[in-house]
Amino acid sequence: MNNLLAVLNSDKKIFEEALPSFIGSEYDELAPLFDAMNYSLGSGGKRIRPVLTMEFCRFFGGDVNDSLSLAAALEMVHTYSLIHDDLPCMDNSDFRRGRQTNHRIYGEANALLAGDGLLTHAFGTVASSEWLAEAVVIEAVAILSKMAGPNGMVGGQFLDLLGVETPLTEGQHLLMNSLKTGCLIRTACLFGVLAAGYDSSSEEYEAADRYGSAVGLAYQIRDDILDSKEGEDEGKITFLSFMTEEEANEKILSLTSEAKEALSAFSDADPSFLDGLADYLAGRNT
Ligand code: IPE
Ligand code: IPE
Ligand code: MG
Ligand code: MG
Ligand code: MG
Repeated sequence: MNNLLAVLNSDKKIFEEALPSFIGSEYDELAPLFDAMNYSLGSGGKRIRPVLTMEFCRFFGGDVNDSLSLAAALEMVHTYSLIHDDLPCMDNSDFRRGRQTNHRIYGEANALLAGDGLLTHAFGTVASSEWLAEAVVIEAVAILSKMAGPNGMVGGQFLDLLGVETPLTEGQHLLMNSLKTGCLIRTACLFGVLAAGYDSSSEEYEAADRYGSAVGLAYQIRDDILDSKEGEDEGKITFLSFMTEEEANEKILSLTSEAKEALSAFSDADPSFLDGLADYLAGRNT
């Protein structure tokens, strides 16, 4: 456990030190826009997705430095999704990560633009990764577009809002979560595989996709259990609308085993960190 936390913190540090090199203003006049972007991108997040990208890259024998631009791009997309998620027209949230949401500080229009800026800049960040093979970069752009777009995270957000008016069925609720939360967590794992030099036809890619899908779903079920303990789920359909807390915990355990199982075929690689991370995320309290 101590070792796991040490690696997590060290990856987080490497990532956060590299992050400013992937984003910056070219004009003094735009400093306030970049301030709004950096307010949300800069700190406070758990950085689960970058750590997954870096650790999948390592697991498959790649150089972590090669994965940082992909990790940064995905964290930009994740951050944009949260800024927009908090807007008055969506969840109307005043606080995130223990401080005021982006629009409460910078105003609604600037928060919208900060999100737009992060999303569009993310694709340029992937495309400018010239140390990666061209074919890898093209695959990364296609995956990010699919997973963040209308058949991915945006689609999940659409279903989430739809569910406010019409209660979702169990199947629709599962789809909503696998799109809304699962897609970007899967992308984090897949980006690590791409940065290590494997393409989407490889068994490494397949394994990362299985791990990411299982961990992503377990992550959201855990989120629902945590929200229910804090009373933040009143009137909402969550996993606990379809199963008891005990069943939810069993489901998390079986998903965690499935994630570990996906890595077990790679006998040359050391799965201890990724196995431990799956356990850690399944049991997290924040
Ligand atoms: C929050 O994601 C939104 C979900 C998809 C559940 P995280 O839990 O990764 O949020 P941060 O980045 O650590 O704040
Ligand atoms: C946010 O989902 C997920 C995305 C922005 C894709 P939620 O609305 O459930 O997450 P929190 O509770 O605001 O973090
Ligand atoms: Mg939401
Ligand atoms: Mg929200
Ligand atoms: Mg939530």
